Amino acid sequence: MKPSDQNPPQAGTTPGSLPQQGSELELSTIQVKQIIHDTIPYLEQFLSSINEQDSCQGVDSGDRSGLAVSHAPADINSTLDQLFSTVVPSGYNTTSPGFMGFFGGGGLPQAAIADLIAGVVNRFTGRWASAPSAVELELSVIRWITQMAGYPATAMGLLTSGGSQSNLIALFTARESYAGKLDMGKARIYVSDQVHFSIRIAAKMCGFPPHAIREVETCALGTMQSSQLHQFIDEDKKKGWQPACIVATAGTFITGAVDDIGAIAAIAQQEQLWLHLDAAYGGFFNLAESGKPILAAMSECDSITLDPHKSLFMPYGTGALLVKDGAKLKHAHDIDADFYGPLQDQGERVDFCSYTFEQSRPWRGLRIWLPLKLHGVAPFQAMLEEKLQLARYAARHLAGIAAIELLAPPTLSVLVFRFYQPGLSHQQLTSLNKRLLETINSRNAVFLMGTQVKGNFGIRLCVLSFRTHLSHVQTALDEIERLAVELRDESSMQAGA
Ligand SMILES: Cc1ncc(COP(=O)(O)O)c(C=O)c1O
Repeated sequence: MKPSDQNPPQAGTTPGSLPQQGSELELSTIQVKQIIHDTIPYLEQFLSSINEQDSCQGVDSGDRSGLAVSHAPADINSTLDQLFSTVVPSGYNTTSPGFMGFFGGGGLPQAAIADLIAGVVNRFTGRWASAPSAVELELSVIRWITQMAGYPATAMGLLTSGGSQSNLIALFTARESYAGKLDMGKARIYVSDQVHFSIRIAAKMCGFPPHAIREVETCALGTMQSSQLHQFIDEDKKKGWQPACIVATAGTFITGAVDDIGAIAAIAQQEQLWLHLDAAYGGFFNLAESGKPILAAMSECDSITLDPHKSLFMPYGTGALLVKDGAKLKHAHDIDADFYGPLQDQGERVDFCSYTFEQSRPWRGLRIWLPLKLHGVAPFQAMLEEKLQLARYAARHLAGIAAIELLAPPTLSVLVFRFYQPGLSHQQLTSLNKRLLETINSRNAVFLMGTQVKGNFGIRLCVLSFRTHLSHVQTALDEIERLAVELRDESSMQAGA
């Protein structure tokens, strides 16, 4: 039976008379140009005022009552007005040069232009055959990152949505590399007590029970104690556990500490364990002259998470995962899906859908490729070196302030400090430091965050945005010094009273 016999056309629905409703979704090129044209002044105003914008814009700013999706259409200008008056200036201003909280790379607008192009041309990059050039362009970005990490040509990688997705794919690949020989009830994953929580979530999603995670203590600087790691592995083996994977960190969230990758890699090699390096924050510092020695051993790891949306200054939603033996990444994800037809497996003809669980995926490669194409690598190297030097400068400056104690000096571009006066209790120090942080942030020139280092409340300063330079760091330091002196005088008076 022909399809037309199965579903005979109803009266009034012959092809010529199909309703045209909804066709307003198909903009003419003139209309597309007009929307872009209307949007540009808002972006211009936003970008040109970045230096004056608050680095944290408050959670209560603006009226959010009109944000619900409505059934009635709205015009672009009133919508842009609403977006830029209510939605954008709300919460952490991660584009501000004064934003020194979390890991904010700033978000290069060049990458956003790439997103506009990628969205408009809407290529499907899950398979080579569907967009060969787009896939090979993305692959060239991955190759550049694998070379930067010192990986061999057999390595493979993926651009992901961020560190959490990369960590998930890495742990899954590690698990699958045991080819069914791992008893999930007895498996062990070794992490430091500073491991990012995305690793715990990833382990859970990969089916490892909670007791699979064995936490190794860190030393004062926040790096994994490799001697204890070795001891735990020995103990576990004797008790019948199955050591499977070690997760080292290159740039912990709290202090930016980098584990002794070389020492941990030697243990992993001796014990034949998968070694994953969570270098979401720290990995790209390998591009900077003074970052290289710190990350020299990263090529010894089996897999590496890196976040271009952190230390390559890309907008959020740009992660990367590298696997040294690319075949293992493929083996973990390769499922024979007939409907795809023959998949590629030759040189640059790569089907990303064979390397990840993501099928339809955005063309992430373009947002990294375009800024690199426009500027070359050198400005990225210089920027990263600048961030390292700024953090070291900040640490020296803070160390010179009498009432300030460095809780964690910078390994890369994060440091943690606190106001300290002898004689004050733990509780008094915590509440004074919380006050110090609140006061600094309330001025809105810079945004720092509170954290805990070995049980002490500290203030974390992270220099990472491509927009953050000496003047912005100096503003933070001057503010910290002035407030620390005020706090010191106040606490001395109270002690004397
Ligand atoms: C060390 C580390 N790993 C993983 C992540 C998670 O990355 P994402 O937020 O890109 O998912 C972070 C986030 O800050 C991190 O610091």
